[in-house]
Formats: sequence, structure tokens, C-alpha cells
Amino acid sequence: MTQDELKQAVARAARDYVAAHLPAGGILGVGTGSTANFFIDELAAIKDRIGGAVASSEATQKRLEGHGIRVLDLNDVDAMAIYVDGADEIDASFAMVKGGGGALTREKIVAAVAQTFVCICDGSKRVATMGKFPLPVEVIPMARAYVARELTKLGGAPKLRAGFTTDNGNVILDVHGLSITDPAGLETQIDQIVGVVTNGLFAHRGADVLLLGTAGGVQTHSR
Ligand code: A5P
Repeated sequence: MTQDELKQAVARAARDYVAAHLPAGGILGVGTGSTANFFIDELAAIKDRIGGAVASSEATQKRLEGHGIRVLDLNDVDAMAIYVDGADEIDASFAMVKGGGGALTREKIVAAVAQTFVCICDGSKRVATMGKFPLPVEVIPMARAYVARELTKLGGAPKLRAGFTTDNGNVILDVHGLSITDPAGLETQIDQIVGVVTNGLFAHRGADVLLLGTAGGVQTHSR
């Protein structure tokens, strides 16, 4: 199976998960990226069961609306049963590296509101130790050089994502060369650097359910 076929299979499984677990008329949070895009396309088939969706990026909002799915402002939502999103890496504790698509801040905000985080990804994303995928850090533009120096002190090699501005008007530093043995500790440490908006470690709020696309079929893992 190709990677896209695995993503497609996992997107279908996520649609079935939502159909089975989202209370009728409930609110669904929707992530960003290529796997999330497959999921959004599948979601169209069950859109009448959903009270509305909260998007984690402008791109996701556009795609949801393209399917006629109602998109709500997060500030108008009191509770969200499920958030579905991809990941760049996920470890055994269900901590993730996210933000390859640059939407990490809004993803983290929407995920914080959700009761259940369902991570959807193909088998290549499951790793023993995270860090091979460069860790994205969203930074206020005027703090870029300072934050880069601080990240270097933590042992990483930050690189500005060229020509990229987030939906929030900020820049991304992709931190190479990390071996992330304490995801929650590093998440806290990076967030404490002045000028950092968010980092792509989702450890304090990791996934609750993992739908993993493998050649043998989609596996469901729960924390
Ligand atoms: C978007 O900012 C990311 O967090 C994505 O969820 C992550 O990069 C996974 O993307 P793919 O599904 O495209 O691999």
C-alpha cells in the first residue's frame, strides 16, 4: 500500500469512529495536513450527524466549507467531544510532534478544548524516540534570532522555515537534531522562552486514541 492509501484507510476509520462516538449534533474539532484532508473528505458522508466543526487552520476551514460542513468559531463552543488530527511523530506514551504543516498553535488550542484526541496517521509516524522530524516552534517575528539562540542552547539546530508565515502572522523555527526523551519536560522548557508562541510537542495534551494505518489494516490503540 502507498502512504496515501494508508492515510485514506485511516481517514475512513476516523470517520467511522466519529460516527460511533460523537453524540448526535456534537461538535468536532478538525486538524490540518494531508491525513486530515483525507478525513475531511470522508466526513462529508456523515455531515448531517455533526452539529458543527471547529477548524485548526484556514486551509481546513476552507476544505470543510467546501463540503458544506458548518464551521464554528471556537469562542462560540462550550464543549467538544472529539478532535481528529494527524501527527508528524507519535511515541509509545502518545506524545506527538506536530506542526509540519505549520498549524501547531491553533491545533493545540482546539485540542485543549476536546475531550478525546484521536490521532490518525500511517505507521511510519510511530517512533520509539521523537526528534528525527524537526520540531516546529512558532515564534513572534521580532524574537526569531533570540529564540534561535535559546533553542541552540537546548541542543537543537533551529532553521527558519523559509517563505512561511503562520495563520497567526508568525514564523516557524524547525529544530533539527533533537532526541526527545522527555517530551513533557521539553514542551514546558521551550514554551518558557520569551517570544515562543507554541512548540509542536503535544505531550501534556497527547492523544487518547491512535488510529494507525498499517499494511495489515488500521489498528486502534487507546492510552
Ligand atoms: C499540521 O500543522 C501538522 O500538525 C499535521 O497534523 C502533521 O504535520 C501531519 O501532517 P500529515 O498528515 O500531512 O503528515
